[in-house]
Amino acid sequence: MRLKQHVIWGQRGSFILAATGSAVGLGNIWKFPYITGENGGGAFVLMYLLFVATIGIPIMMAEILMGRRARANPIIATQELCEQAGAHKAWSGLGWMGVLAGLMILSFYTVIAGWTLEYSLLAIEGKFTGLDGDASNALFNSLLADSGKVLQWHTVFTLMTIAILALGVTRGLEASVRWMMPLLFLLLFVLLGYAIKEGDFETSLRFMFSFKLEDMSWEGALVAMGHSFFTLSLGMGAIMAYGSYMPSNQSVGSTVLIVATLDTLVALIVGVAIFAFVFATPGISPGAGPGLMFVTLPVAFGNMGVGAIIGTVFFVMVVLAAWTSTISLLEPGVAYLNERFGVSRIIASLLLGFIAWALGLGSVYSFNDWADVQILWGKNFFDSMDFVATNIMLPLGGMLIALFVGWKLRDEIILHDLKFEAAWIFRLWRPVLKYLSPIAVLLFLINGIFPVMRKVFVE
Ligand code: PHE
Repeated sequence: MRLKQHVIWGQRGSFILAATGSAVGLGNIWKFPYITGENGGGAFVLMYLLFVATIGIPIMMAEILMGRRARANPIIATQELCEQAGAHKAWSGLGWMGVLAGLMILSFYTVIAGWTLEYSLLAIEGKFTGLDGDASNALFNSLLADSGKVLQWHTVFTLMTIAILALGVTRGLEASVRWMMPLLFLLLFVLLGYAIKEGDFETSLRFMFSFKLEDMSWEGALVAMGHSFFTLSLGMGAIMAYGSYMPSNQSVGSTVLIVATLDTLVALIVGVAIFAFVFATPGISPGAGPGLMFVTLPVAFGNMGVGAIIGTVFFVMVVLAAWTSTISLLEPGVAYLNERFGVSRIIASLLLGFIAWALGLGSVYSFNDWADVQILWGKNFFDSMDFVATNIMLPLGGMLIALFVGWKLRDEIILHDLKFEAAWIFRLWRPVLKYLSPIAVLLFLINGIFPVMRKVFVE
């Protein structure tokens, strides 16, 4: 069924860089701070950490196991593992749903990532200098209203993604993360250093980490859980595809711990830095919502001594983070076309990139011409895509992965591939996959979908 022998990452550490690159993205820098701001700070952070530790880490191990065992893209990997496990073929729907979810997420992700390209230029040109809240709002709204410009940056970001994938696993994916990730971390530390020096670091720390029981909410828990899948790139095969290139003798458990820790650290560091700037700038609030990064931060940057430089550092960092994520969203599909039909990676990435780009047009116009067009449950195109892919398909995919590895793969296979450092880790991990993760995800799905439907049909 498979045409080509699968490649392996050329250097040690490449899997960690690539998987961390996939995980660290707009989810950490754009989404996490504003959903923390909206959901009460410390209480939300605690729930998110809990979900990453109890559900995210075990499922990430399962996803890598599947990819590495089959040494194939997610679609063929699930097919082959079904055969090995004697499981029903229907399980391979998991791979297909993942490729589809990847295209859907990519379609709107490049739109937001495109804004960060525009904001990098604005920062370099010093356009934030002296900005106040109203002017910053106007600046952001004028970008959103300019559908031609949003389309242009969406196109550029899609082409940037295609370019890396077309170069192949070693020369494209691996080579790019080897310089982008260290640079990203360097920029992050510059940002953190500056936040400590100039921002209101203490208030920020208190906001992020002081935990008040009354701030806990059922809804906050659901948002935290959905975000734990999104931020770790779980449930759609990105980690499975990257895992298929991972050397057999690399320890999965410790690798996953490193990736999850780095991803969480970046979210926390960016969060602390952003809120330090926010609290140091009078008149702006942490609960500003999705505009936090594009409206609030430029005000903070525009009123600092070397704000133009820090603003540039920040937005270039976001571009890199988003770029190493978009390539992982498209990789499962590209690898499938290449391995199944022998299509060259150039053609495969152009073709799938084009499909995601075309689907993304709906999101480009969601912020201007089609702002009032409702697709699902009163949501515009962009919100519908995000809702279905992030809140339904990723958790569902993660749940199926947990169920498949938990119930269908034999102990010998798992123990052979994962080589647990201690027996108790295995004895803990297996029931988490079998029971805890699926039940938690089911709870999340039911509670996440019903209120939305009730709002539309009952109220
Ligand atoms: N983890 C990425 C982020 O936080 C998004 C992503 C989701 C990437 C799923 C790949 C797969 O921005």
